[in-house]
Amino acid sequence: MDIALDLGTSRFRVGVLGSDNMCSEPSTVAYDQSGRQLVGDQAEQLIGRAPQGMTAIHPILSGVVKDFEAAVALIRYAFSQALQGRMPRRPNVTVSIPTGITAVEKRAVEEAVREAGGKQVQLFESVIAAAIGAGLPFDSPHGALILNLGAGVTEAAVISLGGIVDCRKISMGGRNLDEAIVESVRKEHAFLIGLKTAEALKCSCGEDSSAVLTVRGRNLATGLPDTLEVSRALIESQVASYCESVVGLLVSALESSPPELVGDFMDSGIVITGGGSRLHGLLSRLRQKTDMPIVVADDADTCVIRGLLSAVPQRESRIAALRLRGRARSSDRPRSAGATGGSATGGSATGGSATLQRFASRIRRTLEE
Ligand SMILES: Nc1ncnc2c1ncn2[C@@H]1O[C@H](COP(=O)(O)OP(=O)(O)OP(=O)(O)O)[C@@H](O)[C@H]1O
Ligand SMILES: [Mg+2]
Repeated sequence: MDIALDLGTSRFRVGVLGSDNMCSEPSTVAYDQSGRQLVGDQAEQLIGRAPQGMTAIHPILSGVVKDFEAAVALIRYAFSQALQGRMPRRPNVTVSIPTGITAVEKRAVEEAVREAGGKQVQLFESVIAAAIGAGLPFDSPHGALILNLGAGVTEAAVISLGGIVDCRKISMGGRNLDEAIVESVRKEHAFLIGLKTAEALKCSCGEDSSAVLTVRGRNLATGLPDTLEVSRALIESQVASYCESVVGLLVSALESSPPELVGDFMDSGIVITGGGSRLHGLLSRLRQKTDMPIVVADDADTCVIRGLLSAVPQRESRIAALRLRGRARSSDRPRSAGATGGSATGGSATGGSATLQRFASRIRRTLEE
């Protein structure tokens, strides 16, 4: 039984290959002093309200393991949720990772997955998985531009022939915007709100048209619990500044794209995936700034896991077909696009023309055979 795992900063998503069963819970782990552990939804309920002696942590940040022990607990829990108590043997696991993480960081992800019970671990670039999940023709010579907006990482990737032509990343996302909202309310009003309140304020932009929003938190002047009316303009200014960073990232990806591929984007549009795609006002700002057709993928939050679930069987069948023909050479064994190998020495996450040519010749060879 093989498992696909998207270890997001805010949520993990996990599924078993060949089954429709996919689940998602917050990437949160909580411990009390006696070592009792809560994971997922139960741990998330404690964020900002953990009883004394209990700490709730997010072990994954921007695809990187921040707390190894908690990450192992999270992954073990993800396996148990996906397998619903059946753990017949150590499963092979495909995990999505952002582009540009270091070899040491990749090794930490692999180690955590093995420690949690995984057997073989395959890393797969999340932008490629997102493109597959969004239904983009990622392995055709037609170029596509995908913008994946997560909680801890924002990536803009140009893909063609199943490989990454160029990828730009900023290690910030919706979680950083929540932190910026907490900070601006603290500075402006000497009032402390929690991250979950800040996230709710962010998500309510566009839904609620009132000029002020009422929040609960701590009045820092008195030290006591209080309510506060926050102006919508304060929240919107933080949202606008985050949107500017995303616009900058997209513009730089467009500027560096080969001209033929830019023509392709103009035909098929730029596709946005990830939870951040729902941020109010982002789409109109991106369209206005780039004058390009931009669309949000269906079910944008789950594109990465759906892409992983459909890419892995495709890769297996391609390898099996080539092996049957006895032509698979051990030095250049075809892998699914985006897979960075089962070890930390796997291919570079960001490609260039070399990656493009490698994938082009590999696909041509496969077709010829
Ligand atoms: N309606 C909304 N408006 C604004 N932001 C939203 C909305 N809904 C979800 N988000 C944000 O989307 C982010 C979560 O997106 P996603 O699930 O793609 O991230 P992730 O996969 O956990 O993180 P990453 O891939 O960066 O490690 C959170 O910051 C969340 O607040
Ligand atoms: Mg993600």
